[in-house]
Amino acid sequence: MLTKNMEKALNGQIRLEAESSQVYLSMASWAEVKGLEGISLFMYGHSDEERMHMLKLIKYVNERGGHAHISDLKAPDKDFGSFQKMFQELYEHEIFVSKSINELVHVSLEEKDYATHNFLQWYVAEQIEEEALARNILDKINLIGNDKGGLYLFDRDVQQITAGNADSNTTE
Ligand code: FEO
Repeated sequence: MLTKNMEKALNGQIRLEAESSQVYLSMASWAEVKGLEGISLFMYGHSDEERMHMLKLIKYVNERGGHAHISDLKAPDKDFGSFQKMFQELYEHEIFVSKSINELVHVSLEEKDYATHNFLQWYVAEQIEEEALARNILDKINLIGNDKGGLYLFDRDVQQITAGNADSNTTE
């Protein structure tokens, strides 16, 4: 059985994962109308992943005798300026999510809820991957600079990260 504090904290994370999904969905749509097909597919895929993170939390909260709340969400930006700025934003957003997961782990220890502590380890590991992936992409973007051919290859590469598995791309 979850304590009220733990339930509240987990519900906060459910909302954050849902908002993350919306942010990446908005990025996907922006990239799509700019003709950045690969980047757009990457963002659509990333949005789906965030929804999966949210669902996993919902199932867990309900399974442990809590009630997962589905709340209203903050509307994401519609315009992201440039694809470089957009990926920088993605990176910063993931750092923010990692901090939030760390806070949750902290609450689980305060509440002596070792089952939730154990459950959260999946998210801790996932955040390491997500941050590494975002950093890897930013490194690639820095290499390209303003080279149009480089952008073409990047758009194609990032599409492969979506189609393949992100994990192998973060450890190259
Ligand atoms: Fe669910 Fe990208 O963190």
